[in-house]
Amino acid sequence: MTDLRETLARDLTAARERTLLLTDHDEPELLAQHTPLLSPLVWDLAHIGQQEDLWLLRGGDATRPGVLPAEVEVLYDAFSQPRAVRARLPLLPPVEARAYCRDVRGRVLDRVERLGVHGDAVDDAFAVAMVVSHEQQHDETMLQALALRAGPPLLGPGAPLPPGRPGVAGTSVLVPGGEFVLGVDAADEPFSLDNERPAHVVDVPAFRIGRVPVTNAEYAAFVADGGYRDDRWWSDRGRAHRDEAGLTAPLYWGPDGTRTRFGVVEQLPPDEPVQHVTWFEAEAHAAWAGARLPTEVEWEKAAVWDPALRRRRRRPWGDTEPTAALANLDGAALRPAPVGAYPAGASAYGVEQLLGDVWEWTSSGFTAWPGFRPMLYADYSAPFFGGDYKVLRGGSWAVGSSILRPSFRNWDHPIRRQVFSGLRLAWDA
Ligand code: AVJ
Ligand code: FE
Repeated sequence: MTDLRETLARDLTAARERTLLLTDHDEPELLAQHTPLLSPLVWDLAHIGQQEDLWLLRGGDATRPGVLPAEVEVLYDAFSQPRAVRARLPLLPPVEARAYCRDVRGRVLDRVERLGVHGDAVDDAFAVAMVVSHEQQHDETMLQALALRAGPPLLGPGAPLPPGRPGVAGTSVLVPGGEFVLGVDAADEPFSLDNERPAHVVDVPAFRIGRVPVTNAEYAAFVADGGYRDDRWWSDRGRAHRDEAGLTAPLYWGPDGTRTRFGVVEQLPPDEPVQHVTWFEAEAHAAWAGARLPTEVEWEKAAVWDPALRRRRRRPWGDTEPTAALANLDGAALRPAPVGAYPAGASAYGVEQLLGDVWEWTSSGFTAWPGFRPMLYADYSAPFFGGDYKVLRGGSWAVGSSILRPSFRNWDHPIRRQVFSGLRLAWDA
């Protein structure tokens, strides 16, 4: 219990330090909306507090009075306030938003200290972890907004990363056919979210998968080969979206081999995983390369299955927590690491950079695993099952390490690319 309390308090604090760092800017910066696809940062800030208030102080019962008056609280309801309108709402000014978050957090930390004294400690601990996950996910969303922001850089150059290894780009490994355990249960991963559960056995035919994600150099070869103009590589929907949106290269790429993001112009690093492609672009690149996208089931098997021991690992490299030598997470780098940077992070099959660096588009739509049961935040996953979404796996450089597991499932519309999205190739074997 002491361990659990300490873990939760530490994870809450780490998430909050990150939120405060990302919102430590002048008021106009926080009120600005850089795209209708993302919120002004001051909305994310108060929404983080509002969700914490709802799930941890009121057990999810929105009819109970919260810290904010009801007419203010409703401004932070993601379902009733679409992203595009959020900058026009009478939002709390940054100083008040910060004070609100601080007030809620103080009450939450008091509760965490008493965890297990009353009520069900397991359920309460899960709810706290769920709220940590929510805050960390919004921290990533705020980084997406800051990447898009023009003007002098706000965040500095980013922390250094390990060097890559030559010769790994474009290589692949074989994952032999056979059963494995897909998904997790609360018993193994108590903080796993509803869409990751339950664990169940699936049979996966043999396939090959890229040892590392597709790089900028590989993607640039597709662009240089006229890949965006060659309809052979594009699905009907992909072609329609490409033409309507005028896509000719990933988001942030300039015509001269440069990219501009976080207010910084630089030469495209050739060995860095490509990011900011839509699912349709990922699909077209894979077709051009004579490959396809992996299914999310293939991705998870390649990431976690230990064929010798016939069991899942908690992480690709084993059962230990991520470190700076194993994966690029937590957002400080502001970029993916070059391919080959994490040989020690390889899975049992030898697949590298599965956690961190870039979200990897898979060919799969977002559906429930058999036996799915919604969690306390019942509208986190369920309303999106079966919609026009594709699943992304593995997490980007911007994901908080405390919330990421190989079973973690992200999803977005196939036309979106403000996310830190890249891809990894797969082939039938
Ligand atoms: C899981 C990233 C798709 O941002 O829409 C945040 C996460 N849900 N607040 C999203 C989420 C509610 C969600 N994604
Ligand atoms: Fe949210």
